[in-house]
Amino acid sequence: MSLDHRIEVPTDFCRIGLLTRRDGQPVQVPFFARLLEPAALAEVQDIHQEALRRVPEPGLVRVDSEAFFAHHFSGEGRTLGVFAGDRLIAYGILGLPAGPDYRYDRFLEDLGLPASEWNRMAQLIGVAVRPEWRGNGLHRRLCEWRLELAHAVHRWQVAAVSAPGNPYSWRNLLAVGLRIKGVKWLSGDQLRYLLHADLRGSSLLDPASVVTIEVSAMAEQRRLLAAGYWGYAVAMEQSVLRLRYARPLPP
Ligand SMILES: CC(C)(COP(=O)(O)OP(=O)(O)OC[C@H]1O[C@@H](n2cnc3c(N)ncnc32)[C@H](O)[C@@H]1OP(=O)(O)O)[C@@H](O)C(=O)NCCC(=O)NCCS
Repeated sequence: MSLDHRIEVPTDFCRIGLLTRRDGQPVQVPFFARLLEPAALAEVQDIHQEALRRVPEPGLVRVDSEAFFAHHFSGEGRTLGVFAGDRLIAYGILGLPAGPDYRYDRFLEDLGLPASEWNRMAQLIGVAVRPEWRGNGLHRRLCEWRLELAHAVHRWQVAAVSAPGNPYSWRNLLAVGLRIKGVKWLSGDQLRYLLHADLRGSSLLDPASVVTIEVSAMAEQRRLLAAGYWGYAVAMEQSVLRLRYARPLPP
Protein backbone atom coordinates (compact mmCIF):
# COMPACT_ATOMS: atom_id res chain seq x y z
CA MET A 1 0.00 0.00 0.00
CA SER A 2 1.35 3.41 -0.95
CA LEU A 3 1.38 6.04 1.78
CA ASP A 4 1.57 8.89 -0.71
CA HIS A 5 -1.32 11.11 0.40
CA ARG A 6 -1.04 13.15 -2.82
CA ILE A 7 -2.29 10.13 -4.74
CA GLU A 8 -4.76 8.67 -2.28
CA VAL A 9 -6.98 11.58 -1.26
CA PRO A 10 -10.25 11.11 -3.18
CA THR A 11 -10.49 14.07 -5.56
CA ASP A 12 -14.15 13.43 -6.39
CA PHE A 13 -15.35 14.10 -2.84
CA CYS A 14 -18.78 15.74 -3.06
CA ARG A 15 -21.65 16.19 -0.59
CA ILE A 16 -25.00 17.91 -0.99
CA GLY A 17 -27.54 19.14 1.54
CA LEU A 18 -29.94 21.87 2.49
CA LEU A 19 -29.34 25.14 4.31
CA THR A 20 -32.36 25.94 6.47
CA ARG A 21 -31.33 29.28 8.05
CA ARG A 22 -29.97 32.49 6.68
CA ASP A 23 -29.42 35.36 9.14
CA GLY A 24 -31.54 33.35 11.58
CA GLN A 25 -34.55 33.26 9.21
CA PRO A 26 -35.97 30.01 7.76
CA VAL A 27 -34.91 29.31 4.16
CA GLN A 28 -34.44 26.27 1.93
CA VAL A 29 -31.27 26.68 -0.08
CA PRO A 30 -29.35 23.69 -1.45
CA PHE A 31 -25.60 23.48 -0.82
CA PHE A 32 -22.85 21.35 -2.22
CA ALA A 33 -19.41 20.70 -0.80
CA ARG A 34 -16.27 19.71 -2.64
CA LEU A 35 -12.50 20.00 -2.52
CA LEU A 36 -11.28 23.43 -3.60
CA GLU A 37 -8.72 24.27 -6.24
CA PRO A 38 -5.96 26.85 -5.62
CA ALA A 39 -8.03 29.32 -7.68
CA ALA A 40 -10.35 29.60 -4.64
CA LEU A 41 -7.57 31.21 -2.57
CA ALA A 42 -8.98 34.77 -2.70
CA GLU A 43 -12.49 33.66 -1.69
CA VAL A 44 -11.19 31.51 1.17
CA GLN A 45 -9.12 34.43 2.43
CA ASP A 46 -12.13 36.71 2.13
CA ILE A 47 -14.16 34.41 4.44
CA HIS A 48 -11.20 34.27 6.86
CA GLN A 49 -10.88 38.07 6.92
CA GLU A 50 -14.62 38.46 7.47
CA ALA A 51 -14.44 36.04 10.41
CA LEU A 52 -11.50 37.97 11.90
CA ARG A 53 -13.35 41.28 11.61
CA ARG A 54 -16.24 39.84 13.65
CA VAL A 55 -14.47 37.98 16.48
CA PRO A 56 -15.64 39.41 19.81
CA GLU A 57 -12.07 39.55 21.16
CA PRO A 58 -8.69 39.39 19.42
CA GLY A 59 -6.85 36.08 19.57
CA LEU A 60 -9.92 33.80 19.49
CA VAL A 61 -9.25 33.03 15.83
CA ARG A 62 -5.68 32.76 14.55
CA VAL A 63 -4.63 35.09 11.75
CA ASP A 64 -3.47 32.81 8.93
CA SER A 65 -1.25 33.93 6.08
CA GLU A 66 -1.82 33.69 2.34
CA ALA A 67 1.05 31.17 2.24
CA PHE A 68 -0.73 29.01 4.85
CA PHE A 69 -3.91 28.87 2.77
CA ALA A 70 -2.00 28.34 -0.49
CA HIS A 71 -0.07 25.44 1.08
CA HIS A 72 -3.19 23.45 1.93
CA PHE A 73 -4.92 23.04 -1.45
CA SER A 74 -2.73 20.06 -2.42
CA GLY A 75 0.33 18.17 -1.21
CA GLU A 76 0.33 18.62 2.56
CA GLY A 77 -3.35 19.42 2.82
CA ARG A 78 -6.77 19.73 1.29
CA THR A 79 -9.38 22.47 1.62
CA LEU A 80 -13.08 21.69 1.54
CA GLY A 81 -15.51 24.35 0.41
CA VAL A 82 -19.28 24.67 0.78
CA PHE A 83 -21.20 26.50 -1.95
CA ALA A 84 -24.67 28.05 -2.00
CA GLY A 85 -25.23 28.48 -5.73
CA ASP A 86 -21.83 29.57 -7.01
CA ARG A 87 -20.90 31.47 -3.83
CA LEU A 88 -18.38 29.96 -1.43
CA ILE A 89 -19.93 30.26 2.04
CA ALA A 90 -17.62 28.11 4.19
CA TYR A 91 -14.28 26.32 4.13
CA GLY A 92 -12.46 23.76 6.26
CA ILE A 93 -8.77 22.88 5.98
CA LEU A 94 -7.29 19.42 6.51
CA GLY A 95 -3.54 19.45 7.10
CA LEU A 96 -1.69 16.32 5.99
CA PRO A 97 1.93 16.85 7.08
CA ALA A 98 4.46 14.83 5.11
CA GLY A 99 6.90 14.76 8.02
CA PRO A 100 8.86 16.85 10.50
CA ASP A 101 9.70 19.47 7.84
CA TYR A 102 6.04 20.55 7.76
CA ARG A 103 6.02 24.33 8.32
CA TYR A 104 2.81 24.78 10.28
CA ASP A 105 1.03 23.15 13.27
CA ARG A 106 3.04 20.43 15.02
CA PHE A 107 0.28 18.63 16.88
CA LEU A 108 2.23 15.35 16.85
CA GLU A 109 4.82 16.94 19.11
CA ASP A 110 2.20 18.75 21.22
CA LEU A 111 0.48 15.42 21.85
CA GLY A 112 3.71 13.55 22.54
CA LEU A 113 3.10 11.08 19.71
CA PRO A 114 6.09 9.20 18.26
CA ALA A 115 7.78 10.60 15.14
CA SER A 116 6.77 7.42 13.29
CA GLU A 117 3.20 8.79 13.31
CA TRP A 118 3.93 11.86 11.14
CA ASN A 119 2.37 10.22 8.10
CA ARG A 120 -0.66 9.27 10.20
CA MET A 121 -1.47 12.84 11.25
CA ALA A 122 -4.62 14.64 10.06
CA GLN A 123 -4.90 18.18 11.36
CA LEU A 124 -8.14 20.21 11.39
CA ILE A 125 -6.47 23.57 11.07
CA GLY A 126 -8.85 26.21 9.83
CA VAL A 127 -12.55 26.69 9.36
CA ALA A 128 -15.02 29.53 8.94
CA VAL A 129 -18.62 29.97 7.86
CA ARG A 130 -19.88 33.27 6.47
CA PRO A 131 -21.85 34.96 9.29
CA GLU A 132 -25.23 34.93 7.53
CA TRP A 133 -25.00 31.15 7.10
CA ARG A 134 -24.02 30.26 10.67
CA GLY A 135 -26.37 27.95 12.56
CA ASN A 136 -26.70 25.40 9.73
CA GLY A 137 -24.30 22.91 11.30
CA LEU A 138 -21.75 23.45 8.53
CA HIS A 139 -18.74 23.38 10.87
CA ARG A 140 -19.80 20.02 12.28
CA ARG A 141 -20.24 18.67 8.76
CA LEU A 142 -16.89 20.09 7.65
CA CYS A 143 -15.35 18.25 10.62
CA GLU A 144 -17.11 14.98 9.73
CA TRP A 145 -16.10 15.24 6.07
CA ARG A 146 -12.47 15.92 6.98
CA LEU A 147 -12.54 12.87 9.26
CA GLU A 148 -13.87 10.84 6.31
CA LEU A 149 -11.00 12.08 4.13
CA ALA A 150 -8.49 11.40 6.90
CA HIS A 151 -9.84 7.87 7.28
CA ALA A 152 -9.63 7.32 3.51
CA VAL A 153 -5.90 8.06 3.57
CA HIS A 154 -5.23 6.13 6.81
CA ARG A 155 -4.45 9.28 8.76
CA TRP A 156 -5.76 7.97 12.08
CA GLN A 157 -4.32 10.61 14.40
CA VAL A 158 -6.74 13.52 14.17
CA ALA A 159 -5.85 16.70 16.03
CA ALA A 160 -7.07 20.28 16.34
CA VAL A 161 -6.81 23.31 18.58
CA SER A 162 -9.59 25.63 19.70
CA ALA A 163 -9.74 28.69 21.94
CA PRO A 164 -11.57 28.10 25.27
CA GLY A 165 -13.38 31.38 24.54
CA ASN A 166 -14.70 30.03 21.21
CA PRO A 167 -17.31 27.41 22.19
CA TYR A 168 -18.84 27.61 18.70
CA SER A 169 -15.67 25.92 17.54
CA TRP A 170 -14.81 23.35 20.24
CA ARG A 171 -18.32 22.06 20.85
CA ASN A 172 -18.40 20.85 17.23
CA LEU A 173 -14.98 19.23 17.59
CA LEU A 174 -16.21 17.40 20.73
CA ALA A 175 -19.41 16.42 18.91
CA VAL A 176 -17.46 14.56 16.21
CA GLY A 177 -15.44 12.62 18.79
CA LEU A 178 -12.30 14.64 19.46
CA ARG A 179 -11.31 14.91 23.13
CA ILE A 180 -9.54 17.73 24.95
CA LYS A 181 -6.19 16.26 25.99
CA GLY A 182 -4.16 19.33 26.78
CA VAL A 183 -3.75 23.07 26.41
CA LYS A 184 -1.14 25.00 24.51
CA TRP A 185 -0.23 28.55 23.61
CA LEU A 186 -0.28 29.77 20.02
CA SER A 187 2.15 32.59 19.26
CA GLY A 188 2.97 32.78 22.96
CA ASP A 189 -0.25 34.44 24.08
CA GLN A 190 -3.26 32.69 22.56
CA LEU A 191 -4.51 29.87 24.77
CA ARG A 192 -5.93 26.82 23.01
CA TYR A 193 -7.42 23.48 23.93
CA LEU A 194 -5.50 20.67 22.23
CA LEU A 195 -7.95 18.08 20.93
CA HIS A 196 -7.25 14.61 19.59
CA ALA A 197 -8.90 11.40 18.44
CA ASP A 198 -7.48 8.14 17.16
CA LEU A 199 -9.80 6.97 14.37
CA ARG A 200 -8.80 3.34 15.03
CA GLY A 201 -10.63 3.63 18.35
CA SER A 202 -10.27 5.52 21.61
CA SER A 203 -10.33 4.31 25.21
CA LEU A 204 -13.71 4.33 26.93
CA LEU A 205 -14.19 6.88 29.68
CA ASP A 206 -14.74 5.84 33.29
CA PRO A 207 -18.24 7.00 34.33
CA ALA A 208 -17.13 6.97 37.97
CA SER A 209 -14.57 9.68 37.26
CA VAL A 210 -16.79 12.35 35.66
CA VAL A 211 -16.15 15.94 36.74
CA THR A 212 -18.10 18.95 35.43
CA ILE A 213 -16.21 22.20 35.47
CA GLU A 214 -16.73 25.80 34.35
CA VAL A 215 -14.92 26.66 31.12
CA SER A 216 -13.53 29.76 32.82
CA ALA A 217 -11.82 27.61 35.50
CA MET A 218 -8.65 27.10 33.48
CA ALA A 219 -6.27 26.27 36.36
CA GLU A 220 -8.59 23.45 37.48
CA GLN A 221 -8.83 22.13 33.92
CA ARG A 222 -5.04 22.15 33.63
CA ARG A 223 -4.85 20.10 36.84
CA LEU A 224 -7.37 17.58 35.49
CA LEU A 225 -5.52 17.30 32.16
CA ALA A 226 -2.22 16.79 33.99
CA ALA A 227 -3.90 14.01 35.97
CA GLY A 228 -4.87 12.26 32.71
CA TYR A 229 -8.49 13.42 32.37
CA TRP A 230 -9.98 14.14 28.95
CA GLY A 231 -12.60 16.80 28.18
CA TYR A 232 -15.41 15.07 26.30
CA ALA A 233 -18.70 17.00 26.40
CA VAL A 234 -20.22 20.43 26.82
CA ALA A 235 -22.73 21.05 29.60
CA MET A 236 -24.77 24.19 30.13
CA GLU A 237 -25.96 24.50 33.70
CA GLN A 238 -27.75 27.59 35.05
CA SER A 239 -26.59 29.55 31.97
CA VAL A 240 -22.94 28.75 32.79
CA LEU A 241 -20.91 27.00 30.12
CA ARG A 242 -19.19 23.93 31.54
CA LEU A 243 -17.17 21.00 30.28
CA ARG A 244 -17.33 17.39 31.39
CA TYR A 245 -14.04 15.65 32.02
CA ALA A 246 -13.39 11.98 32.77
CA ARG A 247 -10.48 9.55 32.93
CA PRO A 248 -10.01 6.99 30.16
CA LEU A 249 -10.37 3.39 31.30
CA PRO A 250 -7.26 1.23 30.89
CA PRO A 251 -7.31 -0.53 27.47
C1 LIG B 1 -16.99 28.18 14.39
C2 LIG B 1 -17.99 28.37 13.25
C3 LIG B 1 -17.39 27.83 11.95
C4 LIG B 1 -19.28 27.62 13.58
O1 LIG B 1 -20.25 27.93 12.59
P1 LIG B 1 -21.53 27.00 12.33
O2 LIG B 1 -21.16 25.65 11.88
O3 LIG B 1 -22.45 27.76 11.46
O4 LIG B 1 -22.13 26.91 13.81
P2 LIG B 1 -23.29 25.96 14.33
O5 LIG B 1 -24.19 25.56 13.22
O6 LIG B 1 -22.67 24.89 15.16
O7 LIG B 1 -24.06 26.98 15.29
C5 LIG B 1 -24.78 26.57 16.43
C6 LIG B 1 -25.35 27.83 17.10
O8 LIG B 1 -24.31 28.76 17.43
C7 LIG B 1 -24.50 30.00 16.75
N1 LIG B 1 -23.18 30.48 16.30
C8 LIG B 1 -22.29 29.83 15.53
N2 LIG B 1 -21.16 30.55 15.40
C9 LIG B 1 -21.37 31.70 16.10
C10 LIG B 1 -20.55 32.83 16.35
N3 LIG B 1 -19.30 32.92 15.85
N4 LIG B 1 -21.07 33.81 17.13
C11 LIG B 1 -22.31 33.72 17.65
N5 LIG B 1 -23.12 32.64 17.46
C12 LIG B 1 -22.64 31.64 16.68
C13 LIG B 1 -25.41 29.65 15.58
O9 LIG B 1 -26.12 30.77 15.13
C14 LIG B 1 -26.31 28.59 16.20
O10 LIG B 1 -27.24 29.25 17.04
P3 LIG B 1 -28.59 28.51 17.57
O11 LIG B 1 -28.19 27.41 18.49
O12 LIG B 1 -29.33 29.60 18.26
O13 LIG B 1 -29.25 27.97 16.36
C15 LIG B 1 -18.35 29.89 13.07
O14 LIG B 1 -18.70 30.41 14.33
C16 LIG B 1 -17.21 30.70 12.50
O15 LIG B 1 -17.02 30.76 11.29
N6 LIG B 1 -16.46 31.39 13.38
C17 LIG B 1 -15.31 32.21 12.98
C18 LIG B 1 -14.11 31.35 12.66
C19 LIG B 1 -13.78 30.41 13.79
O16 LIG B 1 -14.05 30.64 14.96
N7 LIG B 1 -13.14 29.28 13.44
C20 LIG B 1 -12.72 28.27 14.40
C21 LIG B 1 -11.37 28.54 14.94
S1 LIG B 1 -10.16 28.43 13.65
